[in-house]
Amino acid sequence: MSSCQENIVLIGFMGTGKSTVGKHIAQKTGRVFVDADYEIERLEHMPISDIFSVKGEKYFRDKETAVIKELVQHQNTVIATGGGAVLRSENIRHLRQTGVIIHLKADVETILRNTAKDTKRPLLQANDVKARIVSMLAQRQPYYEQHDYEVDVSHLTVEQIVDAIIQHTKGGRIKDAII
Ligand code: S3P
Repeated sequence: MSSCQENIVLIGFMGTGKSTVGKHIAQKTGRVFVDADYEIERLEHMPISDIFSVKGEKYFRDKETAVIKELVQHQNTVIATGGGAVLRSENIRHLRQTGVIIHLKADVETILRNTAKDTKRPLLQANDVKARIVSMLAQRQPYYEQHDYEVDVSHLTVEQIVDAIIQHTKGGRIKDAII
């Protein structure tokens, strides 16, 4: 694969802006944007919250792995993953084969603000959402460490985040990309 066709993969906790940032990067770099969660919902004909409640998390995770396997067949793509995609080493292995893995990191307050009043994320439907985020972030931290590059998005605009990632990918593994 020539480096200009390499994919950009976004990982990170819920509410860190993976889809928004991904769409902007795709537009600016001439890549196609794909969202793993959207693909799962499309294939299953139901929203993720229903998949969790009707079929269970294990079923969702299996679909997530299948969708990731499919998405990595494509080149010249920006792939936004769901926040839990990092939990299976198999997913990371596939994603890494196809491109550079960028972690969008955020502090608890930012995540809380971005997910306030959210009803679409089953794992954040808790009485104490902040406590849930704190404990999930701590548990997942080692998994998010599997990135090639990390941007702390907490105090940055979307434009600044996008620019940081594009700068990095220019000088990094996809340095020959036409961006
Ligand atoms: C999940 C994150 C969600 C979605 C599902 C599970 C997680 O995606 O895949 O609700 O385990 O963190 P976003 O990160 O896009 O919200």
